[in-house]
Amino acid sequence: LKQKYLSAIADAGDEAALEDIRVQAVGKKGEVSLKMRELGKMTPEERQVAGPALNALKDELNSALAAKKTALADAALDERLRTEWLDVTLPGRGRGQGTIHPVSQVSEEIAAIFANLGFAVAEGPQIETDWYNFDSLNIPPHHPARQEFDTFYMHRDEADERPPHVLRTHTSPVQTRAMEKQGAPIRVIAPGRVYRSDYDQTHTPMFHQVEGLAIDRDISMANLKWVLEEFFAAFFEIDGIKTRFRASHFPFTEPSAEVDIQCSWVDGQLKIGEGDDWMEVLGSGMVHPKVLQAAGVNPDEWQGFAFGMGIDRLAMLKYGIPDLRAFFDSDLRWLRHYGFAS
Ligand code: PHE
Repeated sequence: LKQKYLSAIADAGDEAALEDIRVQAVGKKGEVSLKMRELGKMTPEERQVAGPALNALKDELNSALAAKKTALADAALDERLRTEWLDVTLPGRGRGQGTIHPVSQVSEEIAAIFANLGFAVAEGPQIETDWYNFDSLNIPPHHPARQEFDTFYMHRDEADERPPHVLRTHTSPVQTRAMEKQGAPIRVIAPGRVYRSDYDQTHTPMFHQVEGLAIDRDISMANLKWVLEEFFAAFFEIDGIKTRFRASHFPFTEPSAEVDIQCSWVDGQLKIGEGDDWMEVLGSGMVHPKVLQAAGVNPDEWQGFAFGMGIDRLAMLKYGIPDLRAFFDSDLRWLRHYGFAS
C-alpha cells in the first residue's frame, strides 16, 4: 500500500492528479481510512500493532502529498515566469490631452473682443417659445419668414395648452429677453446654439450664432459699422479690413443690411482682407420699433442696432476649413490637422 501510493505521488503530473491520489489514499473513504475503520473489529493485541502502523502510514503519505504539492506549485511558478513576461522597456501608450473645441475657442475669442468694446454676454434658452423666436421679433403667425427658417417644432398633442415651443432658429430672441430683463441702455452679445432643418457642406441642423445688440439714445448705423470693423480687424488680425453694407430685409430691423468682408480667391484658396471679392458674414440693422415695444422698451426714447453672425462660419474663414460638418464629427485626425488637438 505504502509503495503503491508513494510512487503514485511521485508520478503525479499536476495538482489535480495529486488531489485524486490524496482522496483515494487518505480521503474520508480512502483506502487507508477504510483500513483504520477495521481497527474496531480487531482484538486489542492486533489493534496495538496495526493502529500505530496505519497512523504512521497516514502521516507518511500526508507529508509526501504536501511535499509533492509544494514541488508542483514551484514548477508551475517557474513555468509562468518563463512564459509570461512583460517588456518594461516598451514606450507607454500615452493618454492624450483634451483640448478646447474650435467652435468654443472661436466663441471665446469673439466674446473677448466684444468685451473690449463694452459688450456683456447675455443668454437665452435653446428651446424657445414661438413668441420669443418669432412674434416678439415682428414675425407674426403666417409671416413668410417663418417658412424660410426651416424650423424644428416641438411636438405637442392638441389638448396641450402650453405655448408652442421651437428649437430657436437664431439668437435674435435673446434681444427680447435681454431688453425685458435689463431695459435700456444695453450693450450685449449672445453667443449660442441655433437649429434649422438643413444639411450640406455649409449647413448643419445645429450651428452657432452670436447676436449683438446696442440700444441707447442716439445709436446709429455709423456706430454699427465702426463696431463691426473693429471686430473684424481684431478677429482676423488684419488692420483696416474693409466691409461692405448691402441693403437687405429682416422683419426685426429697419433699415437692414447684410455685411460682407473683403476677400480674394487665389488658386482656389480664400484670402480674407485683400483683393476685390466679398464674402457675406452677417445680417444686421437698426432694431425695429416693434421689437423694442415687445420687449418693454420705449421706441420714442431709445434706438439702436442689432446684428447676427455665424460663429462656425467665422471659424471656417479664419482657419480655412472647407466643410462645416467636420466641426461636429469629433474626428481626432481632423482636429489635429487644423491644430486643435495634439
Ligand atoms: N437673425 C438673423 C438670422 O439668423 C440675423 C440678424 C440678427 C439680422 C440681427 C439682423 C439683426 O439670419
